[in-house]
Amino acid sequence: MTEHIQYSPEHDALILLDQRYLPTREEWFVCKTVKDICEALVVMVVRGAPAIGVTAAYGCYLAAREVAAKPSLDDWKAALSAKLEQIATARPTAVNLRWAVRLMRGEWDKRPELSLDELCVFWLAKAKQIHAEDIATCRAIGAAGARLIADGDTVMTHCNAGALATAGYGTALAPIRAAVEQGKNVHVIANETRPFLQGARLTAYELHRDGIPVKVACDNACALLMQRGLVQKVIVGADRIAANGDAANKIGTFGVALLAREFGIPFYVAAPVSTIDPETADGSLIPIEDRTPREVTHIGNTQITPDGVDVFNFAFDVTPNRLIHGIITEQGVLAAPYAEEIAKLFK
Ligand code: MRU
Repeated sequence: MTEHIQYSPEHDALILLDQRYLPTREEWFVCKTVKDICEALVVMVVRGAPAIGVTAAYGCYLAAREVAAKPSLDDWKAALSAKLEQIATARPTAVNLRWAVRLMRGEWDKRPELSLDELCVFWLAKAKQIHAEDIATCRAIGAAGARLIADGDTVMTHCNAGALATAGYGTALAPIRAAVEQGKNVHVIANETRPFLQGARLTAYELHRDGIPVKVACDNACALLMQRGLVQKVIVGADRIAANGDAANKIGTFGVALLAREFGIPFYVAAPVSTIDPETADGSLIPIEDRTPREVTHIGNTQITPDGVDVFNFAFDVTPNRLIHGIITEQGVLAAPYAEEIAKLFK
């Protein structure tokens, strides 16, 4: 996969592969300001929990640059803090956004003596480190999860939790990639994932480019495919995992988990530890993003619902921990009871 998140020293900008136009057009979106970063997050130029965390880390650096460009500012610390808050709250469900901004902020708090210029240098290095570590984390998720996949398995996934949703390699797609690297014959069913079509457009794009066999299925084909024995495992990503193991992921994931239970198919969640939020006790407390109706009323520029008819566009749902066979992290596969396993991780 092309590196879809790139810092350009030449332009002093973050350059993102614009995921709105995939798979038919590869266009790049240039972020030089906090406004650009927030726009990229909100309209989903970049999406997927770890990828938005990495973007937010570079966003903190760009925020410091922006503040440094106004030497007349009396209170640069307050101005910078306000910009960080803007980035952290651009999307509500994926905890990685807040996680990355808190991490950057924490490093600054430890070094109050830094001048603004010194902070810029320090934060750029830190953002690059978060970026590199995310790829290493995904590879570790792959190594931990590959043993759950048998030679000949077809794995269903929902949304895109692949290279495009992380700095590279993916979370849900990581065990699949690792199993393929081990020589296993693995097929993937990518649920199309209405309304933004992350499965049809993005998961299919990256797996096909990387030579991993993938078939796209309509979201409403899931029960039939499972009933026909065409699915051996389900692996999905997560945007936030509560302290009890309840996992928020793209809308429709909960339904897939219920069907997997009906048909006795193991259902796994793959995510980095940074997606686990020990401050959220259970899934009922995870904020669910409610996005613009236009994503449902239109496909591209074509209107598909009558004028004046309202729609639902909740972007995520929460799968209760009881439906989850295991949570694949870079630190190994967590099993129920998740509250205990997660508490141990954060001790
Ligand atoms: O709205 P999106 O596309 O940001 O939602 C993404 C998902 O739901 C992913 O499955 C999740 O973030 C995991 S990404 C490794």
